[in-house]
Amino acid sequence: MASRLRGKRSTRPAQTVLLAGLLLAGTALAPMASATPSPVYKNPHASVSARVNDLLKRMSLDDKIGQMVQAERGAATPEQAAAMKLGSILSGGGSVPASNTPTGWADMVDAYEKAALSTPLGIPTIYGVDAVHGHNNVYGATIFPHNIGLGAAGDPQLVERIGRATAEEVASTGPQWDFSPCLCVARDDRWGRTYESFGESPRNAVENSSVITGLQGNELGAKKGSVLATAKHYIGDGGTTAGVDQGNTQISEQELRKTHLPPFKEAIKRGVGSVMISFSSFQGVRMHAQQYLITDVLKKELGFSGLVISDYNAINQIDGQDGFTHEEVRASVNAGIDMFMVPWDAPQFITFLHDEVAAGTVKMSRIDDANKRILGEKFKLGLFEHPYADRSLQKTFGSKDHRDLARQAVRESQVLLKNDGVLPLDKKNDKIFVAGKNANDMGNQSGGWTLTWQGQSGPVIPGTTILDGIKSKAGKGSTVTYDRAGDGIDPSYEVAVAVVGETPYAEGQGDRPSGFGLDAEDLATIAKLKATGVPLVVLTVSGRPLVLTDQLPQINALVASWLPGSEGAGVADVLFGDYNPTGKLSVSWPASAAQEPVNVGDGKKPLYPYGYGLKYERGGHH
Ligand code: GLC
Repeated sequence: MASRLRGKRSTRPAQTVLLAGLLLAGTALAPMASATPSPVYKNPHASVSARVNDLLKRMSLDDKIGQMVQAERGAATPEQAAAMKLGSILSGGGSVPASNTPTGWADMVDAYEKAALSTPLGIPTIYGVDAVHGHNNVYGATIFPHNIGLGAAGDPQLVERIGRATAEEVASTGPQWDFSPCLCVARDDRWGRTYESFGESPRNAVENSSVITGLQGNELGAKKGSVLATAKHYIGDGGTTAGVDQGNTQISEQELRKTHLPPFKEAIKRGVGSVMISFSSFQGVRMHAQQYLITDVLKKELGFSGLVISDYNAINQIDGQDGFTHEEVRASVNAGIDMFMVPWDAPQFITFLHDEVAAGTVKMSRIDDANKRILGEKFKLGLFEHPYADRSLQKTFGSKDHRDLARQAVRESQVLLKNDGVLPLDKKNDKIFVAGKNANDMGNQSGGWTLTWQGQSGPVIPGTTILDGIKSKAGKGSTVTYDRAGDGIDPSYEVAVAVVGETPYAEGQGDRPSGFGLDAEDLATIAKLKATGVPLVVLTVSGRPLVLTDQLPQINALVASWLPGSEGAGVADVLFGDYNPTGKLSVSWPASAAQEPVNVGDGKKPLYPYGYGLKYERGGHH
């Protein structure tokens, strides 16, 4: 009996065929496993498009609509998520498992995957988080400088490495999707999300979109620790009038294309797998209803083939009323959004979209386009092959390598704005007085999106404060005294360092419509230190430039430290000259808030212009 070896006839000489026949006869009686081939979509060697098309054919309308919905982990257990056939789960800022550790996260995310894989089609869910300066929701993660500091560093290769490190820490705990980077071009520093921007010129976001390659790898899913990146928020989030968060971007389409579109073009060139739509409006129409900009420009003109996701409850704002309606579901789906972040309202969204499809107001072709994009990213990511957390990467979580990388980023992000020679500080026989609310505060130096959505003051995460760095750098014969208010300062000190600035905030809570200067506490601290006549170094730890024109004459040296994150000691590396500052302003530093918006090339005269940054005259080695 000639054997059908793997679907083709044996062509061997007769005696072999006879022997093969005898052998097979011996086993012919054993029940053969059913030979039904596994479906194409489960075959990792099949092309992504073949897998997508095969799976799509097997999906009911229920499956397809469920795939387009993302719920908050707090709103759906793994079983409920699987029952609704949800395509994705997210952790909003600060939404963490009971045990906020890598294992706690991996167990949580794996539970959602296990439930999803137990459904008839076994489509894995994709879990999203905001890891916008490291895996910032998780205690013990490496917290990198926020984007405004990275923009000042002007080192896209470093930023790519930060993306890679962040992806490793994220993937090690389960999530496969990072709602990052923000490629916003912040044009008005009154905006609460200024610190999430790499800078006021599109060039800053274009260059630093290298973080996408770090997060995804050169090809999504090609190697361990690859996570889906998100170019956000499309489009014009940083260009709203007066910097109002979720406000109205009232500029021409030509200006929109010139200032806010280039970063998305670059992100697409780098293969970004998802784009998040902005809360803001363009010319009075909410972005979440902008079919021309989403479908005609982003998907067709720019050729974006990944998935488009809405922002958090953002479709509710289309009609200006609370909650969402059938009309808003129809408008946002037809505008070209594929995945809907409806954290607490998944069931209602599913019902409404079913109604719209039944009514023929949303076409199946739109539903299928959304599913093809979502499933395409899941297949590319390798989610069907390895849906569970890659716990082998947990050795990188908060690792020394990652913290050293973060410290290097802190060094490179420092911008020296003024220096009469008081910097660099002496390393020996010095007498240093350190003051200010941000000198010894991990939470303040990390800013928003740290452990919680808004962030918080205090010793909230492990790492080094700026004071820690100064203490460890001050060498033999030196003394370092710290008092937050500056009490105890006297003329015997060689130098006083005041670390001032902002306390944490995120999004609209960071809007400063009436301006942004030093607060009363900081002004009092500076005055107290100055009264002794001791030379004064001021560091601003903040998510934006701070107006300090009036205080400048009393200040001997001024450094913009931005929001350095967990490795604050990197600031001291610059103060003591172990790293000669290289940072350059990626935002114009206003002389007064009344100047806002003030941007490179607009003819206004800021206190310090875009691109400004000093070095030490002498010494200081990289
Ligand atoms: C927030 C932000 C967005 C974030 C999302 C999920 O409101 O606008 O940047 O990715 O919701 O947390």
